[in-house]
Amino acid sequence: MEPVTTNEMKHRHIPDNNRSHNDNRNAPEPEIRVENPNDGALSGLSKGSIISIVLFVVGCFIYLAPKDVSCSMENAENRDFERYYGLGGQTNPFTKATADDCQSDIIYRPALPQGILQSDNSASSFLTLAPYGTGKTLIRCKYNQTLSPTKYFPVLILNKQISGYLETFVKKIETNTTVCREKNCLKDWTENEYGQLLLSSLVTRFIEVFPKMSNTELQPLFELSIEKQMRLITTIISYYSAVGTVELETFVNRILGTKYKTNEIQHQYMEKGVAYNEKLYTHFINEANRLLALDPNPTRIRLLYGVIAGQQVKNQFENIQLEENIFNDLRELTLFFRDKLHRIPVFIIDGIDENEYFFQNNKPNKDSLEAFCRTSVSNQIITQVMANNFHLSMFYPKIGDFKIEDAIGRVDKFPVYEIKWTKNSLFNYADYVLRHMNEKASYDRCKSLPNFETLVNYSDKSIPKYIDRLKTPRMLHYFIQELIIQMNNDARHASKPFIATVENVVHAYANAEKRFVKN
Ligand SMILES: *[C@@H]1O[C@H](CO)[C@@H](O)[C@H](O)[C@H]1NC(C)=O
Ligand SMILES: *[C@@H]1O[C@H](CO)[C@@H](O)[C@H](O)[C@H]1NC(C)=O
Ligand SMILES: *[C@@H]1O[C@H](CO)[C@@H](O)[C@H](O)[C@H]1NC(C)=O
Repeated sequence: MEPVTTNEMKHRHIPDNNRSHNDNRNAPEPEIRVENPNDGALSGLSKGSIISIVLFVVGCFIYLAPKDVSCSMENAENRDFERYYGLGGQTNPFTKATADDCQSDIIYRPALPQGILQSDNSASSFLTLAPYGTGKTLIRCKYNQTLSPTKYFPVLILNKQISGYLETFVKKIETNTTVCREKNCLKDWTENEYGQLLLSSLVTRFIEVFPKMSNTELQPLFELSIEKQMRLITTIISYYSAVGTVELETFVNRILGTKYKTNEIQHQYMEKGVAYNEKLYTHFINEANRLLALDPNPTRIRLLYGVIAGQQVKNQFENIQLEENIFNDLRELTLFFRDKLHRIPVFIIDGIDENEYFFQNNKPNKDSLEAFCRTSVSNQIITQVMANNFHLSMFYPKIGDFKIEDAIGRVDKFPVYEIKWTKNSLFNYADYVLRHMNEKASYDRCKSLPNFETLVNYSDKSIPKYIDRLKTPRMLHYFIQELIIQMNNDARHASKPFIATVENVVHAYANAEKRFVKN
């Protein structure tokens, strides 16, 4: 065993140690010349400076002496990758398997579709197809974060939301959900349902942020004609999909300056002497029921009925039809955002790869996925995208050989991107992350991290056949996590601690493979 030499340590611990160990800022450079007899520089130095040099060198020794021990692999606690490379305290980005929390600040742009993260941070419409573990969530997070909140109204539609709509749809349309789960549950899912999903997500998000919006911001809403206000209120109450009705009451009452209360509405009418028309209420319920992706909520519909009757606009709303007007309502509402509130809605859709209707036991249900993808780019939707009513930014999993391009009529106007990794881009990504970790590493590390090829000793002829089988960032992450465990275990006997040996790579690859096969 050959621990880190004392010499190496000394160089590394020159005060004002630069972050890169190859680049010691040689503070004592003149001192070195002092010791060079050919230089004749000694005469030019004052006694004082010689004394300070001597003190400095002695000081270095005192400062360094106990630190030598801290890199010795004789001490069990030093057999630690993080400690060796000075990573303690920072989260090792390779230990993260997913980007679901959107916390990562490391994104390697050159390997990603260039059309998504535009230099002026503008939103656009596209469909990104990404195989599992290629960085789809990460780029979606960045995309969302870059959108200016004064220009856009981002609506994130993730797995949880999509599941809710699909669940409702399947319950309404399929009697035997067990059978459906094994086959294609979504064969009857159409662009109408996709439209409901968009509209409902926009409404729900709007009601969520509404209480925080100022009267100035909402001025355009107050200025609408009562008829337009009532249309908006009808859409909002019919499509709201979060829990509760209080939020809707707040919305209605703030716009109309009224005091409607759902559970007192019947009572409020009687006081006003307005006859309560149960038939109209039933009509509203039936209409709501025809929206297949949404659960009708009788309480909210009572509120809607009450407001329509109370505002005396019943005649215009008696024959209300929701299902026939999905795309009209979507247009109205998105144009209200775009033209009146001056914030273009941006639908950001991600997460269908976790959905149980699309994936069962991690096997994709190709038919369901295709049905869903097709409706996402159907005519009614694309027409509104082309008219710039809103942006539609979709991040879907890439499955098998399904060519979504075939389903898009105007493929030239609606870009489809694919996230692809090559060996080179993956190595670049690894180096990029390692460099980032190096920049954050602490000064008293034993060494700075090498690049990826050096770390895994890629020049050894038996190593590339494992490394080259890593195809995605997620596989790379699993592999490095396992590799660190192997290198920690081996540190005591390693000729070069924390540079991978063939055995390390073989074992790490085998363990990592078990994990990515499972996913
Ligand atoms: C999307 O971006 C906004 C603004 O930066 C942020 O507040 C929000 O948490 C982000 N949402 C997600 C899920 O990343
Ligand atoms: C649904 O279909 C499965 C398989 O054919 C059957 O075993 C099950 O009993 C059915 N469930 C209902 C509620 O009909
Ligand atoms: C890396 O590979 C080279 C070439 O095969 C070999 O000489 C060296 O010992 C290896 N390093 C480690 C740490 O295994």
